[in-house]
Order: sequence, then C-alpha cells, then structure tokens
Amino acid sequence: MNKILACNWKMNLSLSEGRDLAASLKKLAAITPDVEIWVAPQALVLRDLIAAVEKDQPLNLRWGMQNVHSEDKGAFTGELSPVLARECGASFAILGHSERRTYFGETDLGVYKRFLGCLRHELISIVCVGETLAERKDGSTLSVIQKQLSAFVDWHASASESNVSGSSEKPFAPPLVIAYEPVWAIGTGLTPTLEEVAEVHNYIRKLFSANSSNIPPILYGGSVTPDNISSLIEIDSVAGCLVGGASLKTESISALALAVSRQR
Ligand code: PGA
Repeated sequence: MNKILACNWKMNLSLSEGRDLAASLKKLAAITPDVEIWVAPQALVLRDLIAAVEKDQPLNLRWGMQNVHSEDKGAFTGELSPVLARECGASFAILGHSERRTYFGETDLGVYKRFLGCLRHELISIVCVGETLAERKDGSTLSVIQKQLSAFVDWHASASESNVSGSSEKPFAPPLVIAYEPVWAIGTGLTPTLEEVAEVHNYIRKLFSANSSNIPPILYGGSVTPDNISSLIEIDSVAGCLVGGASLKTESISALALAVSRQR
C-alpha cells in the first residue's frame, strides 16, 4: 500500500483559504500519485471543498472528518453523523485524537463506539493513540497504548476469524488505520527518537499480529515537518504520517508529499 499523508486541519482555515489549499492539493496529488493524501478539514466546509476540486480529482486525494458520532442520527446536539459524513463525500474519519480526549472527554470505549459507526458506513477510521509526557516518563507508554487499543484488538480478532471462516469473498481489509501520536509531541515541535517511534509501532504490530498477519497500517503523528518526515517514513512499520500544523500551507504540505513520494 502507498504511504498515507493524512492532514488534520483542526479548527483552522477560512472557506476561501480552504478552497485555495484544496486546489493546491489537487495539483500536488496529481504529481505524487504514489502518496495517499487524506485531508480532514472542518466538517462545515467538507462538501464545499470536495465540490471545488471534484472534477478530475486524482484518486489518491481523499476527504474525511475530524470526528464522527457513533449513532447514525438522534438527539445529539452538535455531533456529526457518520451517515451524513458519507453522504457529504467523506471516506475516512479521525477518531480519538488527543484533543478530543483531553478537551471533550472522549474515552477509549466512546472512541471504539465511534469506530463501529464508521464501520457501518464504510468510513475508514484513523484511530489515534498516544501517551502523555508523564506517562512516558513513568514508563507506562506501552501499557497506555495497550489499553487504548484493547477493544480494537478484540474487534480485529473476531473480524479476522470471520474472514478465515470464508464467509466473505473479499480479501480481509480492515477499515482501520492506527495513528501513534504521543500527546507531548503534538504541536510542540518535540518528537520521539526514531527508536522510540519504532518501539511503539512494533508493539502495536505485535498486539494485532496475534490475530492475523493482516495488520492495520500504523501512522506516526506529532510535530511532523518537511525536515523530519523522510527519516520517519523510512522506519519499516511507519505506513505514513498524520500531520497538523505543517498541513496548513501549500509550501510545507508540498514538501511533505514530495518527501514521501518515491517519484522524487
Ligand atoms: P501537529 O499535529 O503536526 O501540529 O503536531 C498533529 C496532530 O494533532 O494530529
């Protein structure tokens, strides 16, 4: 699978800024066909941006959500339905971002339920996990990751089993991508060493490999820049990056995509 460059625009960019950047991304995707460029703008502008670039949009440019709710509809003021997300053109959703967990009280179970909502509507989930600085310092990084992923590992086990039973003719392709994002690296300019990234990624691989050799792609996120992306994606287990700040400008996102592209 080609490397994924997932862009989390968070609560940034006006409608016109978003349109301009979307037009640049369309050109960029065309010259980097071996990079999956996935963009999560604010939900309010998703449909507008898709409409702006829809004609001849390269297939490696995909649009998504920064969050969706677990239920399809109902009395959940302010939440975002996975049904509508799909109708508006989203093909993926970021779930359990540390900002959602910290500022909006999302829990591991809540994130898992949102994943089930995505699953029902064929939205790929990018599930974010990661430790705080205090957790890294006290040596509990791997146990934090294990807890955050526990329900997903169980789901993967049963999904793998039902596939093995031959009930589906399609090859097993889990609609799940994991993003390892140390909380202390997000928006801070700090990054773990390459060894630390590899250690956590290998641990996540180990958790999932108990079930099946078909392991979800694992991204790295947290202060990814044009300067550090090349060494990060060279780590075997890194299937791509989830980028916040550096995905907001044409120059930096172009430098990131070109660095990831094997065509460079
Ligand atoms: P950052 O954000 O690249 O600005 O550190 C990453 C993220 O929050 O996903």
